[in-house]
Amino acid sequence: MRQHEVLQEEQRIMDQVVILAGGHGSRMKAAIPKPMLEVLGVPMLGWVVQACEAADLRNICVVTGYKSQFIEHYLNNKYKTVLQAERLGTGHAVMQAVPVLEENPDGNTLVLCGDAPFMDSETIQQAYQLHTAQGNAVTVITAKLDNPFGYGRILRSETGIAAIVEEKDATDAQRQIQEVNSGAYWFRTADLLTLLKGLSQSNVQGEYYLTDTIGLALEQGKKAGAYLTDNTDVVLGANTRKDLLHLNEVARWKVLEKHMENGVNFINTDGIIIGKDVEIGAETTILPGTQLKGRTKIGARSTIGPNCVIENCVVGEYVILNYVQAYESVIEDSVKIGPFVHIRPNSHIRSGVKIGDFVEVKNSVIGESTAIAHLTYVGDSDVGKKVNFGCGTVTVNYDGIKKNRCVIGDNCFIGCNTNLIAPVKLGKGAYTAAGSTVTKDVPDYALAVERADLKVKEGYSLKKLKSKLFPEDKNKN
Ligand code: UD1
Ligand code: CA
Repeated sequence: MRQHEVLQEEQRIMDQVVILAGGHGSRMKAAIPKPMLEVLGVPMLGWVVQACEAADLRNICVVTGYKSQFIEHYLNNKYKTVLQAERLGTGHAVMQAVPVLEENPDGNTLVLCGDAPFMDSETIQQAYQLHTAQGNAVTVITAKLDNPFGYGRILRSETGIAAIVEEKDATDAQRQIQEVNSGAYWFRTADLLTLLKGLSQSNVQGEYYLTDTIGLALEQGKKAGAYLTDNTDVVLGANTRKDLLHLNEVARWKVLEKHMENGVNFINTDGIIIGKDVEIGAETTILPGTQLKGRTKIGARSTIGPNCVIENCVVGEYVILNYVQAYESVIEDSVKIGPFVHIRPNSHIRSGVKIGDFVEVKNSVIGESTAIAHLTYVGDSDVGKKVNFGCGTVTVNYDGIKKNRCVIGDNCFIGCNTNLIAPVKLGKGAYTAAGSTVTKDVPDYALAVERADLKVKEGYSLKKLKSKLFPEDKNKN
């Protein structure tokens, strides 16, 4: 590492983040904290945390308030939390983190809103550059909006920034200003600790405004700056369900555009929702009604959809998935699945497999080029290569107490409506006769038949239904 990199590294260890997430969002009518509401399947707070991580900031402290247990559960002890028991404003929220900041007062502190999901690592880093280059006590991240309504306005001076005034406290002239406060700031930590002591509640809302730190810093002869970003989305937050839908739409299009740049093909985007962390190879087509979630990875030249839900799966190249739901599984190259197939967690579908309609696979390995064409349940099974499942096969994996496994060798041919009562093993090349219930292991190359002799009772229905249905034959015996 070169010297400046060592310095940067030290800086990162010293630098801290305070994420304000005390909000309730009463207009959402949600029983969870507002920052836990999801955009593209990830809580807004998760977006903000990920932006910090992408900027190499890991000393994160989240200020909680309403129903803090939800946030604690989500963070799972990965990051610190402090509780703001009373909601007295953004300045008051940061005050709750003072004990944490005091442990480490040498570096800088980034303050972010936990309900503004589109803050990004580049903006964070560029604002940091400006903050440190100018030697500011505080640097606020701003954006220029066509409709600045509701946001704090940036009052500029000749040398930089003079103050931030809230919508509710602003004069008509100040409300014309289009440059707004994103709610994100870099502070020199030692200065932040001093500035917080100077905040008061003397404003229209009777709150401790974090925004007042700008004016205060200047009064105290410290430097304040503003980093104006082109990415106006960083200011977007949500107060209503309609806003939240808008955030989802913005995020959805950002993700779709990224994939199109990577060569992913869409002929129509109706109902297509792709999570922010999903990866897709070039020349793959995603068809309408498809949701790709979590850490899903799709290879190149595949066709996914219409109407698939794929969550946390790794899917190979040249795969065709049509009306498939798949979770926590691996689907290798050149597999064809669907329509109406459920691949449940911990399944591994090897290359060249074909799975047809109304099939469920759970916690199983399906060997190369095996075919499961229709109406079949394969659960807790290890299936070899080139096996053929007849229609209506069931692996009977649950005995009411525990789950047992089926082992099916290469090249087995399983007759229609076979029940395989686990634990049971079919050797390689074994056959089962249609309708058999297999309760014992079947050796290699053997045929298992389990059927009673067929009895045929002549004239049965005629005797039973007589004149009712077959008047023309009523005189037959
Ligand atoms: C704040 C800014 C405003 C800025 C806007 C950007 C102030 C006084 N105003 O306004 O200039 O344009 O953000 O969205 O800071 N929070 C707490 N505890 C509190 C109050 C807020 O944790 O007591 C959290 C909220 O959950 C939210 C964030 O702080 O994540 C911002 O709070 P919010 O009420 O949305 O601030 P605004 O009034 O919109
Ligand atoms: Ca807000």
